[in-house]
Amino acid sequence: MTLYPFSNSFGLTLILCLIIAFFMTPSTSNPLAQVCINSKNPRFCLDVFALNTYDSPYELTIVAINLTLATASKTIKKIHTLIDQIEDEHLIDIYNYCLNFYQFVIDYLRSTEERFLKEKQCVDVNDAGMTAQVNAFRCEKEFQRKWGYIYDSTLTKENKNLSIFGSIIVSATDLLYNSTLRKNS
Ligand SMILES: *[C@@H]1O[C@H](CO)[C@@H](O)[C@H](O)[C@H]1NC(C)=O
Ligand SMILES: *[C@@H]1O[C@H](CO)[C@@H](O)[C@H](O)[C@H]1NC(C)=O
Ligand SMILES: *[C@@H]1O[C@H](CO)[C@@H](O)[C@H](O)[C@H]1NC(C)=O
Repeated sequence: MTLYPFSNSFGLTLILCLIIAFFMTPSTSNPLAQVCINSKNPRFCLDVFALNTYDSPYELTIVAINLTLATASKTIKKIHTLIDQIEDEHLIDIYNYCLNFYQFVIDYLRSTEERFLKEKQCVDVNDAGMTAQVNAFRCEKEFQRKWGYIYDSTLTKENKNLSIFGSIIVSATDLLYNSTLRKNS
């Protein structure tokens, strides 16, 4: 997997050291570490964000939203391609449910992002992050509905991705919310 360049214990140790190193320094100066440690998959989170430095939870939240939108759009394209290749009506039904779940996440995120950019309102974005996780789970569950037999999910990795990105959004907005509270108190 190209996502994890060190697929051995050295890599894991390195990541753990990075996380610990982040925590040795004053907390507010490392929003990325705080966000990632509270996400579903800290290593994945650090990997996707590691390319840049982020000064604020605000900036991290915007990038997290953008990355989630990009990954969800990619999955929607993939589902359309899959639908074009099959004739099994049950499977097409499953894919259509997944399309709806993914489209809902995209629309919800886009509308909350607009408000977030205008008013720095992060409660809705937080909820959209939770919805991303719930809908990823729902899509995965569709494959396990009984249609005479149970289908193997062809979207497991995509659903995992969406779920992790959703958890990163939740974590980023939690931190943003916390730091806003701190500033105002
Ligand atoms: C996020 O996406 C919006 C809309 O596509 C774009 O205008 C903005 O520059 C992006 N921001 C970041 C930090 O990637
Ligand atoms: C999951 O997300 C990562 C990071 O954005 C990306 O590189 C990878 O291709 C995604 N995997 C799938 C199956 O969409
Ligand atoms: C926000 O604050 C709560 C309560 O102090 C804490 O449990 C939580 O871990 C914090 N979240 C982040 C992302 O720092």
